[in-house]
Amino acid sequence: MSNAPAQAEPIGHPHFHYHKGALHAEGVPLDNLAAELGTPLYVYSRAALGTALDRYQQAMDGRPVLVCYGMKANSNLAVLGEFARLGAGFDIVSGGELARVLAAGGDPSKVVFSGVGKQAWEMRAAIEADVKCFNVESQDELYRLSDVAQCMGRHARVSLRVNPDVDAQTHPYISTGLKENKFGIAIEDAPQAYRIAASLPGLHVVGVDCHIGSQLTDISPYFDALDKLIDLIDTLKASGIAIAHLDLGGGLGIRYTDEVQPSPKALLDHVFERLAARGYGHLHLVLEPGRSLVGNAGLLLTTVQYLKHAQARNFAIVDAGMNDLLRPSLYTAWHGLRAVRPRAGATRVYDVVGPVCESGDWLAKERALCVQQDDVLALESAGAYGMTMASNYNSRPRPAEVMVDGEKYYVVRQRESISDLTRGESRLPF
Ligand code: LLP
Repeated sequence: MSNAPAQAEPIGHPHFHYHKGALHAEGVPLDNLAAELGTPLYVYSRAALGTALDRYQQAMDGRPVLVCYGMKANSNLAVLGEFARLGAGFDIVSGGELARVLAAGGDPSKVVFSGVGKQAWEMRAAIEADVKCFNVESQDELYRLSDVAQCMGRHARVSLRVNPDVDAQTHPYISTGLKENKFGIAIEDAPQAYRIAASLPGLHVVGVDCHIGSQLTDISPYFDALDKLIDLIDTLKASGIAIAHLDLGGGLGIRYTDEVQPSPKALLDHVFERLAARGYGHLHLVLEPGRSLVGNAGLLLTTVQYLKHAQARNFAIVDAGMNDLLRPSLYTAWHGLRAVRPRAGATRVYDVVGPVCESGDWLAKERALCVQQDDVLALESAGAYGMTMASNYNSRPRPAEVMVDGEKYYVVRQRESISDLTRGESRLPF
């Protein structure tokens, strides 16, 4: 992604802002937080989470929309609990995510269960919890789900995740709606799959689902998908299969550099207009936004360990690595980078790299910085797919997570300890 110039205001402003020379999250100076809790440290703004959800809730404008937070973006209990409190539902992709929703006080009747590889135990747990709907991705899954539900003497509500074969024009790793992707059932095979679903004794067909990709900065691919889904709903209607809701997945983009965040209102206005024009104004809508609810609400603090002025490059070696924030290594993703206490003085161009033993372990490339050893830096837009994709590679304990709320902060996940690293492992008995 592009080498964009530094933005004047921190991303996530006004929740992240400079005051008296230091970057703050709400009312908390981040240098104090780093000194108190150490780095690498994920910091979230509670107000920013609320603002992001509010954009969707305002956009609903009395229309029947359920926002199911795509919690793979950030599954910390504090984040989930906050969204549950504010009325959101959840899009889950595993039994582990279901357990988190329940632990956070989420309402199972607002949970949709997506994912290509649901196992029987996960289906049982979700039926037991009585989730709103399973988004089924293959014929085999239909048969298994029906069997599991029948054995429990229950019915599972289902949508089929349809692959509408539209190009979301995003990074190939996060584009999901094309024919060659593993996700969903090809739209031309969907009527047949729906007929099977409708005939199976353990299933009750309720909806149609799709998710075309992530970090979409242009909303027109949604409308290409929508038109195809409405055609499908027409076909289903003709064969006596009634649909109560339409799930358009997640995918709205956020600001990493200078992207303009598409508005949920523009999306919903267009969608409801098209539905009404085709005689489906009564359909309920489900959305599964992940990144757009949390991405700009978090950042990752890291401390400069060493500056290395090599022949070809200057390196700032920091204490966060690809194990803490994988996105730059995996997608060549750009994250804004700022000094928590900017210095006056000449800048040099640095590659900001981690301590992991991989050349791909970098967080930011070719950034003009004026930094010294022990300075604290903030990687912006790290609230989504940051901590949830962190690993223990190189036996590095994963970071702590903190939620700032006004002048207060709460450690919502403790830093892993060295003994956590070997928990559950054992040596051979000889
Ligand atoms: N629903 C489904 C079925 C999904 O697969 C996803 C994301 C979402 C909703 C939420 O999408 P969002 O609103 O966050 O775009 N690790 C990548 C992103 C992977 C997205 C996977 N699916 C990244 O860091 O960019």
